[in-house]
Amino acid sequence: MVRVKAPGVVKLFGEHAVVYGKPAIAMAIDRFITVEAVKISGGDVEIISRDLGVRGIYLRIIDGSVAEAKILDNAYAAKLASYAYRAVEVTRRFLGVRDGVRLTITSELPVGAGLATSAAVAASTVAAYSRELGFELRKEEVAKLAHQVEVEVQGAASPMDTTTSTMGGLLYIKPGVEVRRIAAKLPIVVGVVERESTTGDLVARVRKLYGRHPGVISRIMDTIELLVNEALDALARQDLELVGELMNVNQGLLEALGVSNRRLMELIYSAREAGALGAKISGAGGGGAVVALAPGVEDSVIKAFKAHGGIGFRADVWEEGLTYIQ
Ligand code: PMV
Repeated sequence: MVRVKAPGVVKLFGEHAVVYGKPAIAMAIDRFITVEAVKISGGDVEIISRDLGVRGIYLRIIDGSVAEAKILDNAYAAKLASYAYRAVEVTRRFLGVRDGVRLTITSELPVGAGLATSAAVAASTVAAYSRELGFELRKEEVAKLAHQVEVEVQGAASPMDTTTSTMGGLLYIKPGVEVRRIAAKLPIVVGVVERESTTGDLVARVRKLYGRHPGVISRIMDTIELLVNEALDALARQDLELVGELMNVNQGLLEALGVSNRRLMELIYSAREAGALGAKISGAGGGGAVVALAPGVEDSVIKAFKAHGGIGFRADVWEEGLTYIQ
C-alpha cells in the first residue's frame, strides 16, 4: 500500500492567460488531496472517495467501463473520479502495465473550486499507482503525466496546476520555457463560494470570446503577461502593497474575460474592505475560490468571507509539493 498527498494550489497571477502560453504565479498550499493505492488482482480500477465535498463515491471500472457505481449526487466528486481513472490509464500507457488498483481518495480541500484539486488528484494518483507497482518516477515525470491527464479530461489545460502541486512552493511558470521558485512569504486567505461552471467550460468560454474579439483579447493577455512580470519583481522585493495592487489589476482583467460573477465580486470587495491589500479570483472563476493578500487582517478577511456566504481559511506555502506518507 502506498499513500501520497499532493497540495492544493492558489493562483496569484495569470490564470487563463497561461492557457495561451503566458506566464503565471501560483502557490502550493498546506491543504491536501491524499490518494492511497493498493494493487488488486485482475485489471480493475476501484475508486473510493471518503469525503470529496459532501458525500462520497464508489466506482468499479473494468476494461474502461463502469461496472458498479455509487455516486451520491455530487457532480464534482464524480468529476474528480474521472481524473483519477484517467491518471491510472495515462500511467499504464507510460509504464506498459495493466495491473488492477484500488484507490482511496480523501480531500482537505473543497473540490472543483479553483484550488487545483483535479491536478492534485491526477498527480497523487500517478505517483501512488506507479510506486505501488514498484516504479519510482521523478517528480518532473509525475508532473508531465498529470498534465497529460488534465489535457485528456478537460480538452485544454496549462501545466500550471500540475507543476505547482507536484513541485510545491511559490512558482513563476512560463509553460514550456521556465519554472522558477520565488522565495517570498505571503499572508494568504482563501475564500470559497459555490461554483457554477467547470474549468473546461470557463476555458472554452474565454476561447470563444478570444475568437470574437481577437485584437482586444490578445491585448488583455499581453497585459496580464506584463503584470505577472511586474509582480515577480514586486515579490522579489517583498513589496506586498504593490503585489496586492497588481492582484487587483489582474482581477479587473479576469472580469473583462467574463469569468467573474456577483458572488465572487462580493467576496473580493468584502476582503478589500476588511483591509486586504489585494483580492482576486483564484483559478478558472465562475464562482469557486478567491485569494486575498491580507497581512495582519487575516481574521477580519475570514470573517468577511463568512458574512458573505462563503468559507474562508488561511493558507501557508507548502514547499515540498507531492509527498509520500510513511
Ligand atoms: O480553477 P482551476 O483550479 O481548475 O484552475 C484553472 C486555471 C486556468 O488557467 C483557467 C486553466 C489552466 O489550465 O491553467
